[in-house]
Amino acid sequence: MATIVGGIGTSHVPAIANAITNKLYDDPYWAPFFDGYGPARAWLADVRPDVAIVFYNDHGLNFFLDAMPTFAVGAADRYESDDEGWGIGTVEPFAGDAALSWHLIETAMAADFDLTTCQEMLIDHGFWVPMALLWPERPADLKVVPIHVNTVQHPLASAARCEALGVAIGDAVRSWPGDERVVVFGSGGLSHQLEGRRAGFLNPDFDRVCLDALAAGTTATITKHTIPELVDLAGSQGVEVINWLAMRGALGGDVTEVHRNYHIPISNTAAAVQVLAASNVSS
Ligand code: DHB
Ligand code: FE
Repeated sequence: MATIVGGIGTSHVPAIANAITNKLYDDPYWAPFFDGYGPARAWLADVRPDVAIVFYNDHGLNFFLDAMPTFAVGAADRYESDDEGWGIGTVEPFAGDAALSWHLIETAMAADFDLTTCQEMLIDHGFWVPMALLWPERPADLKVVPIHVNTVQHPLASAARCEALGVAIGDAVRSWPGDERVVVFGSGGLSHQLEGRRAGFLNPDFDRVCLDALAAGTTATITKHTIPELVDLAGSQGVEVINWLAMRGALGGDVTEVHRNYHIPISNTAAAVQVLAASNVSS
């Protein structure tokens, strides 16, 4: 039986990639942000995952507005990154685990999730910026499963549905006969809005409610809201918090909040990282 060691919610702003390239770790603007990642990296080094399942949203690279799957799961042995126009370049391809992906897909489909399956899938900043942040030196044998959740082309799946997808994926991991240690990431957020009259909108009060709820397992505080309500509370891109809910769903019951950092602003966002360790997992 594979084991979920825990989850990490994290920002994915493209500007982070350029800050990494230019090593701006001690820059006064960036330091309060990068300093928040040391404890998350230390936790990862401690729990040594073999597989990272990443709930993220594609931003127009692999999928565009003409054909946008609600949920799409990578089922490849290799994923190449690309840049849909931010000028942030690319990173080394990621190794996938197609057999594990198909097990997750088959199990979640049996639980009534109608998934798009991708045997080829380009991954954008929503996937690879968190990976670059959390693993400056990527472990050589790390495998990944990208899971795209639509956050850009409405209507979106409800927050409750995204959390339920996470639950189904978590159950699927726990029924996989291998002995892999699995970490689950939720990418994006927290509050931000990039366009329109409310461009630059942030909501620290609601962000704190979300972080507290994710830690305490009281996510109904978030999932009680409709997507339009979440857009109102968190901003039109702050709705990316549904990726964090999917991550939290996969972790199951109680978790221990190992670390949290919250910093405003990074680019247009309220930036956050939160490490949630699963119960009863040894390092
Ligand atoms: C920014 C935030 C995002 O979530 C994103 O996908 C792209 C850009 C930003 O704040 O710059
Ligand atoms: Fe985004």
